Amino acid sequence: MHRSPLIAANWKMYPIPEGALAPDSAYRPRAGVETLVFATFLDLTTCIEAGLPTGAQCGHPEEKGAHTGDVSMAMLKKIGCAAVLCGHSERRKDHGEEDRFIAEQADAASRFGLHPVVCVGETETERKSRRHKSVVERQIKALPHHLMTIAYEPVWSIGTGVIPSLDQIQEMHAFIRSLLPPARQKVTRILYGGSLKPDNAEGILALPDVDGGLVGGASLKPESFAELMRLAQGAPKK
Ligand code: PGA
Repeated sequence: MHRSPLIAANWKMYPIPEGALAPDSAYRPRAGVETLVFATFLDLTTCIEAGLPTGAQCGHPEEKGAHTGDVSMAMLKKIGCAAVLCGHSERRKDHGEEDRFIAEQADAASRFGLHPVVCVGETETERKSRRHKSVVERQIKALPHHLMTIAYEPVWSIGTGVIPSLDQIQEMHAFIRSLLPPARQKVTRILYGGSLKPDNAEGILALPDVDGGLVGGASLKPESFAELMRLAQGAPKK
C-alpha cells in the first residue's frame, strides 16, 4: 500500500494566482502527485469550473441554520468541492476554533462526502516549554475516526521562514502516525506545512513519514508550486 504525495495550496485570503486556471497550470495533478487548491469561498466555483481539485478553507458542521457568515459542508459538497481544511491555526487563533468544533467539522465533512484535511501543530511557546507532543496528541485524539489527511503545521513556522529541522519534522510525523488507529496508520497522509519552499522542500518531502505539503506563501507563485510538485513526484511512501 503506497501513499501518493499530495501538494495542497492554501491561498488564504488572496486571489487566485495568475494562470492557475489554465489547462497547463502548475496546480493540476500530474503523474504520481495529487493537488488541491484551498481558495476563498468566492473563488471556489471558478476553480471547480476550471477543473482544479478544489477545497474550502473551513466549513460549518451543521447542514443549515442560524450561523451568520458561515457555509456548511453540505453546501460546499453541492457546488463540487472535493475537500475542506479543518482547524488551520489561523482559524483556531482568529476565530476561536477549538478541538471539539474542529472534530465536528471533520466529522461533518466526511458525512457530506468531502475529504477533511485537518491541521495540527504547536505554538512557539508550546515548543519552547516542550509541550509540543502533548499539544499535538490532544489535537489528534479529539478527532473522529474517519479517513482524513493530517497536516502538521508548527504555528511558529507558518509564514515566518523558520522551519523545524528534518529530525524534528520526522519525529512529529512518526509520532502523529503512531497516534492514529492501527488500521489508519499506513494509509493516512500526513502533510508538512510551514514555510515550505522549493529551496527547503527536497529533504522534507523525502522524509519517510511526510506525504506532501500544505503550502501557503509559496503556493501563490505558480513557478514555486510547480517546483514543489516536481520535488514531490516519485516519492510515494510505504
Ligand atoms: P506558509 O503557510 O507556507 O506561508 O508558511 C502554510 C499554511 O498556513 O498552511
